[in-house]
Amino acid sequence: MKIIVTGSKGQLGSSIQEIATEYPDFTFIFTDIEELDICDSMEVDKFFAREKPFAVVNCAAYTAVDKAEKEKDLAKKINHEAVVNLVNGCKKTGAKFIHISTDYLFDGNKSTPYHEKDIVRPQSVYGITKLEGETAILRTEIKSIIIRTSWLYSAFGNNYVKTMIRLGQERDQLGIVSDQVGTPTYAGDLAHVIMDILQMSSKDSKRFVPGIYHYSNEGVASWYDFSKAIFEIYQGINCRVNPIDTASYPTPASRPAYSVLNKSKIKTTFAIEIPYWRDSLKVCLSKLKENANK
Ligand SMILES: NC(=O)c1ccc[n+]([C@@H]2O[C@H](COP(=O)([O-])OP(=O)(O)OC[C@H]3O[C@@H](n4cnc5c(N)ncnc54)[C@H](OP(=O)(O)O)[C@@H]3O)[C@@H](O)[C@H]2O)c1
Repeated sequence: MKIIVTGSKGQLGSSIQEIATEYPDFTFIFTDIEELDICDSMEVDKFFAREKPFAVVNCAAYTAVDKAEKEKDLAKKINHEAVVNLVNGCKKTGAKFIHISTDYLFDGNKSTPYHEKDIVRPQSVYGITKLEGETAILRTEIKSIIIRTSWLYSAFGNNYVKTMIRLGQERDQLGIVSDQVGTPTYAGDLAHVIMDILQMSSKDSKRFVPGIYHYSNEGVASWYDFSKAIFEIYQGINCRVNPIDTASYPTPASRPAYSVLNKSKIKTTFAIEIPYWRDSLKVCLSKLKENANK
């Protein structure tokens, strides 16, 4: 059974590559833009027709939230139009589709965790294009699972944790936003959930329950809390973290002040347990420390 993973050099794609040997029932086809540009509909069609995948996991995306405000067309091309190409490819081959979406679909005006059915009102170009991608999937009748996640980090690529470690080593103090609240999510945990769903579904197709699901690690944090935890767990960084307001750190894209996700649906549907964010952060930081000491 073949699984095509797109965007496989990104954080989530690399995290799936890292655990692939734990799922020997599958043959993985890891692709990034060089192997399969998902914006090229003809290439996608040809690739899918040749490989006849059991499932496609779309880890490819335009994820530069601030840059997207200026690169609207490119963000739309990757987060919306290319998703239509993948959906069409899945329709033609009967492949199951797992797509990743974001907490930035929400406006952040709630103060209790967001459910899958809560109203979406993205505040940024990135959020709008990700919503367009979701809508395109839901318009079709292919078997698809959309997993909305938040604040993704890993030992791969560029991400908040790696930026914090670098800045913490360079500076004496940092001002970090303390009035935006969400949940950090370790890409390695999400990778396991995706693969566990596919593993269950390969044995019993009824276990592939289509729909939208929310997934993040357990718990709640502000960016300030997240940064404090990174320095505390990593150790050896002598940098003071000062809480600041969003208003004193203006960014091109608006972000939700509150984007904690309610994860009940994914937990009950697929019988999964979700690690607490600080525990997963420890796992990632020990990998980063190991890499730094090599
Ligand atoms: N990062 C977060 O904090 C976060 C939060 C919530 C949800 N998400 C969602 O989670 C998913 C995974 O995010 P991530 O952090 O793993 O993303 P990422 O690290 O930015 O990886 C995305 C990958 O897709 C590749 N890509 C871009 N255009 C492509 C194309 N036309 N064809 C094929 N591949 C292409 C990128 O290549 P280049 O690097 O060369 O562009 C990159 O390797 C995304 O759907 C994202 O929207 C992320």
